[in-house]
Amino acid sequence: MIREIRDNILYFDGCNTVELAQKYGTPLYVYSETDLRGRFAELRQGFIEKYPRTRVAYAAKAFFPLAMAKLVKEENMCVDVVSGGELYTAIKAGLPAEQIEFNGNNKSRTELEMAVEYGIGRIIVDGLDELSIIEEVCKEKGKTAKVLLRVTPGVKSSSHDYIVTGKKDSKFGIPLDDEVILPQVKAAIDSSVIDFYGIHFHVGSQLFDNDSHLQALDIILKLADKIRENFQYELKEINLGGGFGVTYVAEERKSFSYFIDPMMERIEAYYQEKGVERPNVVIEPGRSIAAEAGITLYTIGTQKDIKGIRKYVSVDGGMTDNIRPALYQAEYTGVIANKADAPKEQVVTVCGKCCESGDILIDNLSIALPERGDVLAVFSTGAYGYTMASNYNKNLIPGVVFVREGKDRLVVKPQTFEDLLRNEME
Ligand code: LLP
Repeated sequence: MIREIRDNILYFDGCNTVELAQKYGTPLYVYSETDLRGRFAELRQGFIEKYPRTRVAYAAKAFFPLAMAKLVKEENMCVDVVSGGELYTAIKAGLPAEQIEFNGNNKSRTELEMAVEYGIGRIIVDGLDELSIIEEVCKEKGKTAKVLLRVTPGVKSSSHDYIVTGKKDSKFGIPLDDEVILPQVKAAIDSSVIDFYGIHFHVGSQLFDNDSHLQALDIILKLADKIRENFQYELKEINLGGGFGVTYVAEERKSFSYFIDPMMERIEAYYQEKGVERPNVVIEPGRSIAAEAGITLYTIGTQKDIKGIRKYVSVDGGMTDNIRPALYQAEYTGVIANKADAPKEQVVTVCGKCCESGDILIDNLSIALPERGDVLAVFSTGAYGYTMASNYNKNLIPGVVFVREGKDRLVVKPQTFEDLLRNEME
């Protein structure tokens, strides 16, 4: 068990969380290396080794300090980056360029130059003018680029509106209208410097139903038909994106195989029927790798009991280290780490310390009697917490600690006040 209680104290991957809070200060992001590596192991077993010519490109946006990039490298996974910064981190961590794939709806010329210069594994083209920029850059540098086209499958998946990406009205992907997509495909096939690999889609994030992935896949296989008919060309690769949901509060996550197996069956059946070799298949999970591997530790401060309304319990972080409740009404749960076994006799609202009324981390949390100085552990904060952190109110971005079987190591130092002023000039 990654999370366990010993003597009324919460342990995470064998480490006493109260001691971690004392040692490193709070707020603090704590990640279980066992859990992170375990997710990759699940995917190795249930996807990479089960189906030949498949890859996992971990979506860096979920969580990607250098230490995570190194872990991805050690696990021999690929990585999906969406900015020059993520690309730079991957390269600095020593990830082979071939294992890096670059997504994004508005890559700058400089970012594309970096990608071509490093010779990364795939550039996933999203904008209508992107192909021609890549061609230009390749010609200038005497290089070639391996390219996929990201399409908007036009399916609606059920998740928060801000994290649904596959519907027709989306800033992501190339619309599937024949007169839009087919000329792009033709240009990619015809180019002397572009090696056209295939098609990419991503339907959305935090999904619990495999239906939208399957609908999107059917649409992509129809596109494969059209590409064959029009250009006598077989796709070499299909990228199914990420989006697999995780457990925050109530709904239990589904296994990877719940999403992957039906898609693989459909792809294999389709290619068997056509009598051609199945293309490579790639997935891009982010949240489903990092979310549950991370918890955040806070120290409880002031409390405000508004009679008949609610009791606010404040912590020393908030929307600056976890914007998700404020941005997506995301729900979390947690426990007082130093009273982990005590009866949950209070229902409280956990709020942060930012100057925003919306800075509420958890509404209606049942916990043991909270007191100033207690350590609150919030669960499943590993994805899109640290990566979306900000310095609002000049609050400091917390450090990150990796724990593994009772051992801890600091992988990101907590910010200092000097860090805040580093780039500021008088
Ligand atoms: N691939 C592409 C092209 C994506 O756009 C995304 C996520 C992923 C993969 C990874 O999706 P995942 O497996 O993590 O669901 N900040 C939001 C999530 C934004 C997701 C954006 N794209 C949140 O905190 O919920």
